[in-house]
Amino acid sequence: MLVNLRKSSTLPQRVLENLNTCILLTDQDMQIVYLNPAGEMLFQLSSKKACQRKLTELITGPFDLLRHIQNALKSGQPFTRRALELELSGQRLLSIDCTVTPVEEAGRTELLIELLNVDRQIRISKEESLLEQGDASRELVRSLAHEIKNPLGGIRGAAQLLQSELHSEEQKEYTQVIIAEADRMRQLVDRMLGPNAVPHKQQVNIHELLERVRTLVLAETQKGIVIHRDYDPSIPDFSADPDQLIQAVLNLIRNAMQALDDSGEITLSTRVLRQFTIGRTRHKLVLDLKIIDNGPGIPPELIERIFLPMITGRSDGTGLGLSIAQSLVNRHNGLIECDSKPGYTVFNILLPLELEV
Ligand SMILES: Nc1ncnc2c1ncn2[C@@H]1O[C@H](COP(=O)(O)OP(=O)(O)O)[C@@H](O)[C@H]1O
Ligand SMILES: [Mg+2]
Repeated sequence: MLVNLRKSSTLPQRVLENLNTCILLTDQDMQIVYLNPAGEMLFQLSSKKACQRKLTELITGPFDLLRHIQNALKSGQPFTRRALELELSGQRLLSIDCTVTPVEEAGRTELLIELLNVDRQIRISKEESLLEQGDASRELVRSLAHEIKNPLGGIRGAAQLLQSELHSEEQKEYTQVIIAEADRMRQLVDRMLGPNAVPHKQQVNIHELLERVRTLVLAETQKGIVIHRDYDPSIPDFSADPDQLIQAVLNLIRNAMQALDDSGEITLSTRVLRQFTIGRTRHKLVLDLKIIDNGPGIPPELIERIFLPMITGRSDGTGLGLSIAQSLVNRHNGLIECDSKPGYTVFNILLPLELEV
């Protein structure tokens, strides 16, 4: 239906539909008569539903702004306000730039309202620095891992030679310790080097993939952990490397399970976002996959650095799980973000949906 609409739409319509700014039109009673797709995203409401409501039901504050809008309607004078704290129904607070222009339509005044989400701009620059910071530290860890890997091969080889020369079983125990520890270190170093393979893309159904991961982790877990599913079945198949995505999701779910310890709840939620920007690139369709747990939350002193390699809050952790997951998702031009408070931790995978293989 959307495709047909696009085909038949005129140039001004297409422009409105692809704008990043929310455009809203109300009649003189502040009844909404139009909302573009960016507006649907902002209010998390379809344009059809929005057109059954009044502006005051969508925007519940600040009072000052609503008063200005009413004045604009009466006086016919446009106005602009910057960095307003806008209160949306559902009590979400957003920082926005707002322009209101009264327009005359068949002798009646209508209001053209433009809202630009500046929160999103701040987030985009944060995302960029997250990506850059991750790249730099991953590079550092990789070169360090390379430096360790070379002499490690030498140590293991020498221990093996020495072992073949030894006759006492007691002494051989020592060389076996050296070999076993060198192998353990080699595994760690390989993990530090991170995933190297370029993605082997194929058609992926996100829900089949999540079900595989879910079965896998449920087999590992104690009975006290429940995994809920909140899937949007309309998400199309897309092109990606399923093994790399499984690895990324597994790392996130395992962390959630470790945080929950014996009992708790994990929710896997999928949605699709339209015209969404990741880093500086705007994508038509983006998968929004959330892994939510009701555990104790990420320690506040860690949260800013959590995606960096070697950052861990667990005594037996390596601090590589999140850095690897982030790097796998970055390779698919996506990003992982997180937010956490005690009782609610969410890891959000944002992945552009490439529809062609
Ligand atoms: N869902 C979560 N809840 C609470 N803390 C978490 C969660 N996910 C990750 N963490 C914190 O982030 C740290 C880093 O995770 P990760 O990179 O996977 O390394 P590791 O699991 O080896 O410690 C964890 O040690 C933990 O402190
Ligand atoms: Mg981990």
